[in-house]
Amino acid sequence: MSSDAFRERLTGYRSRIDEALLQIAKGAEPAYLYDPIRYVFSGRGKRLRPVLVFLTASGFGADEEETLPAALAVEILHNFSLVHDDIMDGDDLRHGKETVHNRWDNSTAILAGDGIFALAFDQLNRLNDTSVASMRLFTNATLRLCEGQALDKAFETDDEVSVNDYLEMVRLKTGTLLSLCCQLGAVVGEAGDEEVDAVAAFGELVGQAFQIQDDILEIYSDSEKMGKSLGSDIIAGKKTFLTCKAEKLDRSHWREFMQSLEGESLDERIPKIRDYFGKNGIVTDGEKLVKELSEDAISQLEPLPSDVQANLTPFVQYLMERKN
Ligand code: IPE
Ligand code: IPE
Ligand code: MG
Ligand code: MG
Repeated sequence: MSSDAFRERLTGYRSRIDEALLQIAKGAEPAYLYDPIRYVFSGRGKRLRPVLVFLTASGFGADEEETLPAALAVEILHNFSLVHDDIMDGDDLRHGKETVHNRWDNSTAILAGDGIFALAFDQLNRLNDTSVASMRLFTNATLRLCEGQALDKAFETDDEVSVNDYLEMVRLKTGTLLSLCCQLGAVVGEAGDEEVDAVAAFGELVGQAFQIQDDILEIYSDSEKMGKSLGSDIIAGKKTFLTCKAEKLDRSHWREFMQSLEGESLDERIPKIRDYFGKNGIVTDGEKLVKELSEDAISQLEPLPSDVQANLTPFVQYLMERKN
């Protein structure tokens, strides 16, 4: 399939999800709960996770209709995690709009997140024969994601976070969800246990690569393009691949450099931080690791049916080219 045809296919999946999300809480009351939920569901997310569910399920022979509840469930889970993540990270922009806690307040955002989480289970219950297996994977993935978020927060005040600690954190906070997408797609497509495990390993590696790429974009892209707050993580002391690598190369130099920026605005700091990462080869190291993880991910697909490989390999290539 040509890369244009592949992109068109993804656009089709994405529209399917966008339309279905708009139907979910339509007309529901009370407004205190459902207005922010409708607001979240109409946001401009890239819908990468449901696309991954569709691609995997289709590789195993499932049709779009039977896959839709699983695809919706992961996108809904993702959005739940973002509503709460934005409170935890104190961010004010998401999907090109104000974050829920900014537009309303923390209480509204916590409750909207809770409601969104329940709506994800409501989708899983609609799966015909695979509901129970899917529920087990989904519950496990949610816990792993929370563990990743816990490490992410704990690392903010931890001075000894290594690159390996970071990789474990992103495996949990981001890899888990991409892995779940592949697992659910495989389960809907009635794949065998070993096949489910192979796509799970693929998804986890893609997730790690995706998060490192996101760390790089956090510093090198702009807020308008990404539709979310950028740069705040580094100021909050969050550990990203780039900061862990800078620490590893020369801890005291990096710390002195960061201290020298204190008191400056984000706009003043970002170009200097870019310069530091550039000069010290840190971005190049990040890009190299993204490439290695992606290649490792693709190699996990070798024992799988050719249709699965044909669907998932271009997905990795597509992700690696992303600019937002
Ligand atoms: C954002 O993921 C959270 C991370 C894991 C980096 P996405 O970039 O896929 O989120 P959307 O597309 O804005 O929903
Ligand atoms: C988001 O992580 C991952 C989850 C919500 C589990 P980040 O906090 O790094 O992502 P952004 O930058 O807010 O999208
Ligand atoms: Mg965040
Ligand atoms: Mg976060």
